[in-house]
This record gives sequence, structure tokens and C-alpha cells, in this order.
Amino acid sequence: MSVKYEKKEHVAVITIDRPDALNALNIEVLKALKEAASKARTDDDVYVVIITGAGRAFVAGADIAQMKDYTADEGRAFGKKGNKVFSKFEEMSKPVIAAINGFALGGGCELALACDIRIAGEKAKFGQPEVGLGITPGFGGTQRLPRVVGMSKAKELIFTGAVIDAQEALSIGLVSKVVPGETLMDVAFEMAQKIAENAQIAVRQSKIAINKGMQCDINTGLEFEMQAFGLCFSTEDQKDAMNAFVNKEKVTSFKNK
Ligand code: COA
Repeated sequence: MSVKYEKKEHVAVITIDRPDALNALNIEVLKALKEAASKARTDDDVYVVIITGAGRAFVAGADIAQMKDYTADEGRAFGKKGNKVFSKFEEMSKPVIAAINGFALGGGCELALACDIRIAGEKAKFGQPEVGLGITPGFGGTQRLPRVVGMSKAKELIFTGAVIDAQEALSIGLVSKVVPGETLMDVAFEMAQKIAENAQIAVRQSKIAINKGMQCDINTGLEFEMQAFGLCFSTEDQKDAMNAFVNKEKVTSFKNK
């Protein structure tokens, strides 16, 4: 299996496990990633997802050996496949954390960009080197990178194909945290657990409102927020948490209802 799926408490850990090829994304890996996304999305017991890579890479890109002889139509179809799989993580309402242990190049950087939160180990490396291979980014890089780091920096990274280290990725907002490599999974898991302790309907409605709002004008985005905010008042979690607060207590665990 090229993708491992493990569940610990309310956290699903998806590990891309093709270390000999630095976890390069071929058709088999994409299919396995899609299945893992679907498993995590449909398991009511999973609240948060972590994606990581085995060995010294997160993902070193799409599989160059597999795609080198593609025609234009095959290239388009491969791009469509990759985008569909990555969108599964972006579109699921459960939060997805990318724990980036090493190379996150091309499709690897794009997979991280499709996640909600990116945490890097100090040896992680990021880049979109596609133009050096005669192609554009194909799994969302031209769209998500400028939305995350701004148009100018995204164009610089994509046009030059430069590879940057974890500290630079932090300084441009590509990742939100850099931690010693050996602590990466613990830090990601702690963050996942902290998220899992909150009211999941509220967490998921927040993700939906943020993602929808980032794609539209502010007033439409504020409408999404109002809907999400209103919906939360129909939950037992909101009643329990606010009643507990006014009684100087704290809910110990949410019902997620
Ligand atoms: N597609 C297919 N195979 C890949 C790959 C990719 N994107 N990235 C790495 N591999 C394979 C290598 O071919 C090599 O296989 P081999 O041992 O059978 O020869 C193995 O993974 C290890 O890579 P190697 O290049 O020997 O490691 P390195 O430490 O010298 O260099 C990188 C690491 C990441 C700098 C280098 O592998 C690289 O540049 N990869 C391609 C990155 C890229 O352009 N990604 C975007 C693709 S669109």
C-alpha cells in the first residue's frame, strides 16, 4: 500500500508511503489518497486529519517518470485527477493538517496548500519547480499559492522554480509553524487534539465559512458567516457551553450535536 491510514483517538493520520521515490504522486498514490480522504470524511469518529510523508520527503512532486510521455490530453486528465483528489481534503468540513517532514515540491507543495494548516519540520523544503521541467504547476499551485502567500511571491516562486527552506516558508506565511523534525508528528497531533476538544459543528462551520468566504466578495462571505453562526445556536453544544460559562463551569466534552 502506498498510503497508510491510522486512527488514534479522533485523529486520522494519512501517511504517503513511497519513500524510495520520495513519495512522488503516481496514479496509484492518488487513488489511495482519494480512498483515505473518503474514509476520514465518512468516519464520524474522526474529527481531524493529519497528512504526512514517510522517510525524508513529504511529497517530491508528481511522478515524473510516469508522466514524461503524456500527450496534452493525458496531461489534462492527470491534472484533473490530482485536483479532484486534493479538493477532497479542502472540501471536507473536517480540518486537515499537513505535517511536512521533508521535500514538499511541485505536487507536494500543492497537496500541503490544499490542507487547512501547514506545520513544517525544520528540514522541510518547498517549491514549485515545474517550469524547469517544461510544465506549469498542475495540481492547484497557480491558484492556491497566490491565495496563501500573495501574487508577487507566488509568481516569484513559480517563475523561478526556487526551492526555499522551512524558515523562509514561515516568513512568507506558507507554513504557520516550524518545529524540530523529531517533534513534528507530536506537535501536529497535539494541535489536532486541541481542535478535537472543541465543538466540532462549530469547527466545521468555521472551515466552511472561511473557505467559501476566501472565494467571494466580503458581503457574500459575511452572509456565509451569518448562516454558520446562526446554525450553531441550534446545537446542544452551544447551549451546554454557554450555560456552563454563565454558571462559572466548563463543559468537559462536547456532544457534537
Ligand atoms: N517523480 C519521480 N521520481 C522521483 C521524483 C518525482 N517527482 N522525485 C524523486 N524521485 C525519485 C528519484 O528518481 C530517485 O529514484 P531512484 O532512486 O530510483 O533513482 C529517488 O526518488 C530519490 O531521489 P534523488 O533525486 O536520488 O534524491 P536527491 O536527494 O538527490 O534529490 C530531490 C531530491 C527532491 C531534490 C530530487 O529528487 C528532485 O529534484 N525531485 C523532483 C522534484 C520535482 O521537480 N518535483 C516536481 C515534479 S512536477
